[in-house]
Amino acid sequence: MRRLNNIAVTGGAGFIGSNFIHYIFESTNFKGNIINVDKLTYAGNPENLASIESAFGGTRYFFENSDIGNFNEMSALFKKYDIDTMVHFAAESHVDRSIHGPAEFITTNIVGTFNLLEVARNLWPGREDVLFHHVSTDEVYGSLAEGQYFFETSPYDPQSPYSASKAASDHLVKAYKNTYGIPFTLSNCSNNYGPYQFPEKLIPLMLLNLMNDKPLPVYGDGRNVRDWLYVLDHAEAIWFILNKGRTGESYNIGGENDEENLAIVNLLCQKMAEKTGQPVSHYTSLITFVKDRPGHDRRYAINCDKIKKELGWKQQVTLSRGLDLTIEWYSSNRDWVDHVTSGEYRHWMDRNYGNR
Ligand code: NAD
Ligand code: TYD
Repeated sequence: MRRLNNIAVTGGAGFIGSNFIHYIFESTNFKGNIINVDKLTYAGNPENLASIESAFGGTRYFFENSDIGNFNEMSALFKKYDIDTMVHFAAESHVDRSIHGPAEFITTNIVGTFNLLEVARNLWPGREDVLFHHVSTDEVYGSLAEGQYFFETSPYDPQSPYSASKAASDHLVKAYKNTYGIPFTLSNCSNNYGPYQFPEKLIPLMLLNLMNDKPLPVYGDGRNVRDWLYVLDHAEAIWFILNKGRTGESYNIGGENDEENLAIVNLLCQKMAEKTGQPVSHYTSLITFVKDRPGHDRRYAINCDKIKKELGWKQQVTLSRGLDLTIEWYSSNRDWVDHVTSGEYRHWMDRNYGNR
């Protein structure tokens, strides 16, 4: 029986991690503690959790500004909070950055995960009431031809430094159960979108450019396909896995919204036009085809029947509704956007966490 009382969330100040923490406190009956372990890279922003900090900070929510690669610090945190559950989001997560500079991806995604597993191996020997949940991506399966889907049984075939680093970490997690008995669950998820996403990924980048009448850079011919999942649906899927997922199993999580990038960008143009009253051509004229990403995976599409059938999870938010919510959020959170893009959030961090 899992204890599920003191949950360490690595990367909890990032996009999905902070949505996950909001989801836990705002939409579940969880009564235990959340320890957010985050190094606060450019992608981490404690401002994402300001409302959680003021409601639960120091009682049921604890923020630790720390690097998952630091064995001594991680061991000390495990002991300090008597961690029984790890939800491991922390990673370098952007494919383009992994192409420009892969080193950090190896350090955090592979060596960092290895380090956390070593801590678990030291501090959780023989325990069956603990869980290491590893958050991974559907990109580990590689690129698909038309009509094909990723299944949990699909062979790994990663193509970018990012997906290769995530694949390596997935293999380590599985090896630590096989070799040392560390109980794990693993999820491979498709492209997320929603509030608090750093505006370097497709949807928030396009939204901010639309709001500022800037060019919309579409890579290659714009016909690459991605599956889109609203981030709080992802958070719920992870919560279901923590509670009901079978130890040692992987679960695919997806939105079942596989669309060409150009279709997504056109949809955003249409929604912006409806919102502002401008003609849609005002926005579509901003679409600019740019040089393709090297090694750009052509198509991702995910089959997530396993989590639906076994755990009873399903997506709650349609693509259209999710995009509306996201547009609304970015329109009414211009300060957040300014902070993450200007570096102001670092000053916020120093003011709020400088004495920790
Ligand atoms: P993100 O880039 O928004 O956030 C990553 C977080 O990890 C940041 O808060 C950062 O400060 C923290 N971090 C980075 N290195 C760290 C380190 N060494 N020690 C401690 N903290 C560190 O990422 P995201 O989009 O929220 O993705 C979270 C996880 O989900 C990642 O593991 C990613 O591979 C996976 N994933 C993401 C998507 C997606 O669409 N964004 C899809 C599938 C899977
Ligand atoms: P991205 O959001 O970077 O996620 P991933 O590469 O992990 O799937 O990109 C989603 C898709 O959008 C991908 O096919 C690349 C494409 N893309 C653009 O066409 N223009 C952009 O400016 C960005 C960031 C992505």
